[in-house]
Amino acid sequence: MPGLRLTFAFMVGCKRIAILTSGGDAPGMNAAIRAATLVGRSLGAEIIGIERGYRGLLDGAFVPLETKDVAGILREGGTMLGSARCKEFHHREVRDKARALLAAREIDGLIVIGGNGSLTGAVHLADPAEIAGGRPLKVIGIPASIDNDLGMTGMSIGVDTALNTIVEACDKIADTATAHDRTFIVEVMGRDCGYLAMTSAIAVGADLALFPEAGKPESEIVDQIVDTVLTIRGRSRRARRVIIIKAEGVSVPVDRLKTAVDERLREKAPDTEPSGIETRVTVLGHVVRGGRPSAFDRLLGSRLANVAIRALVAGTSHKMAAWMPPVELPEEVGTRSPADPYCWLIDLTAVLAETENLLNGRSPLARWRAGAFDEIEDALLL
Ligand code: F6P
Repeated sequence: MPGLRLTFAFMVGCKRIAILTSGGDAPGMNAAIRAATLVGRSLGAEIIGIERGYRGLLDGAFVPLETKDVAGILREGGTMLGSARCKEFHHREVRDKARALLAAREIDGLIVIGGNGSLTGAVHLADPAEIAGGRPLKVIGIPASIDNDLGMTGMSIGVDTALNTIVEACDKIADTATAHDRTFIVEVMGRDCGYLAMTSAIAVGADLALFPEAGKPESEIVDQIVDTVLTIRGRSRRARRVIIIKAEGVSVPVDRLKTAVDERLREKAPDTEPSGIETRVTVLGHVVRGGRPSAFDRLLGSRLANVAIRALVAGTSHKMAAWMPPVELPEEVGTRSPADPYCWLIDLTAVLAETENLLNGRSPLARWRAGAFDEIEDALLL
């Protein structure tokens, strides 16, 4: 009954809703676009895609999204809408232009699927103080970034797939490392956040994880690697491979780290053949961001989008749809979504504040993660 659906959307909230994906793409973004389109349309809203994130918005790259347009995208990595980083969006006059373009198309709701920078853009774009007397705009964010660096959500879209990619790569590296008794330093993405390095290290059974939240100086990192290598090389033949996962956010470039470690190892173990003690480096880079989304990321993208679009159609704004937040939330900051018991709707400004605390190590969650790793390292080197 399409007539009934239209009436429903008209009565309760946004009726023309745009969706964009922004920042680094993440596997599972397509699942979110698909679910938001299907659920939004079933609630009587018109759904419009914006290509290439905020950059595309400024170029007026609007495309209608109907059921046929999102068929088959669920299993694809990347994002069907394309993505971009748009530094200009920091400027008020650029956002004014974006608001004018949205208003001209009578778009009253926007779903932003992305990470820290993208959600910051959403908060400013829909800031009532900036909108002043202009056409009101409601926004809901959906966390998507392989880095898992957003506060107040247990997981962001793309993290699980990235983690699986790292684990698969490291399992392969471990085979050759074991065959040669070698040490590998594997660098993984994550920007300023060590989450991927920490969790993949556990899943891989790595011997050491290096992450920025530990705040260790270069000399201490080198010592830690050398001590780990020498302890492990003192063991029986089958247990002598060393896998170290390094987050890209650790400020020492991986090649400099390798050189410093090799030098120190030669000093400390001068009788070992150089070929037997030299480290090898693998930088996984953008490989970690690609690939078909895991089943979990397909579900996560679909469920967060379901919650987000329902909230927007109901007239809610300035929230992020979150997955099982790992922190206590006062009611004024976030409440459980009526649409999904695992999902929450959390104040976007509070999310961004907690994100900053996570990245600068002030969040209790960041401190817990670093502390947990101290305990894991102690247990591994016994
Ligand atoms: O934020 C996702 C991410 O993949 C980070 O892990 C990485 O530091 C960054 O994006 C890379 O960005 P770009 O693709 O623009 O080089």
